[in-house]
Amino acid sequence: MTRGELLAAVRTQRLPHHVALIMDGNGRWAERRGLPRVEGHRQGMQAAERLIRFVAEERLVPYLSLFAFSTENWNRPQEEVDYLLDLLARFIRERGDEFVEGGIRLRVLGAVEALPPSLQRTIAEIEARSRRGDVLDLAVGINFGGRWSIVEGARRAMALARSDALKPEELDEGAFARLLPTAGLPEPDLIVRTGEEKRISNFYLWEAAYSEFYFTSILWPDFDEDALLAAIQDFQGRRRRFGRVTP
Ligand code: FPP
Repeated sequence: MTRGELLAAVRTQRLPHHVALIMDGNGRWAERRGLPRVEGHRQGMQAAERLIRFVAEERLVPYLSLFAFSTENWNRPQEEVDYLLDLLARFIRERGDEFVEGGIRLRVLGAVEALPPSLQRTIAEIEARSRRGDVLDLAVGINFGGRWSIVEGARRAMALARSDALKPEELDEGAFARLLPTAGLPEPDLIVRTGEEKRISNFYLWEAAYSEFYFTSILWPDFDEDALLAAIQDFQGRRRRFGRVTP
């Protein structure tokens, strides 16, 4: 099938509202070619940029999440951490105008206060400038972790309780979800992980309660538009019951 045919086929069925991507395999992609790991990240960034453009131009889904840097990624060699943060800063700085013009709203999820101050400023600037984007809502996890996010929600709940703005018995699942850093994003319908491993690696935990998972051995730099469409097509064959008997 050509890309156009694949696209037409997925459009005949219910599309996911929110797709989240765990971009794994950059290092292996580079190592298999005898290249330094950072070259895999550079190619990985280009793959991410291509996909974002495709999803926005085709208005394929309204919400897209990318897990770019986890709370555990600080444990990598300093050189690689510096390269990744630099790459993300460049990504946001260089793509910022394109996002604003293309109606892409960027939000960065994560403990941004631990990031270099210049990156924090770049993030705040593009988030503010792209706020009215209504073509694609793009959430990028930087220094993000699912557990961090839940603890953050718990902290906010405690602060509200201390000031008597929230009583313990008022805190239900809906109220808690509204306190999470991911508030405002619909829960992901589909979580895709590239690069062979089959785990969530502390990405969306609370939000993934009813997500469908799709694992592919394709390494992230090779994950292209067709691969995304194939993942969506697989998702369209799933029966989502949300704990009920009938779909
Ligand atoms: C996993 O590969 C990838 C990462 C830790 C970083 C993901 C970052 C990018 C793709 C850069 C661009 C991101 C955006 C949003 C533009 P790995 O190093 O864990 O690969 P390995 O498992 O083969 O070692």
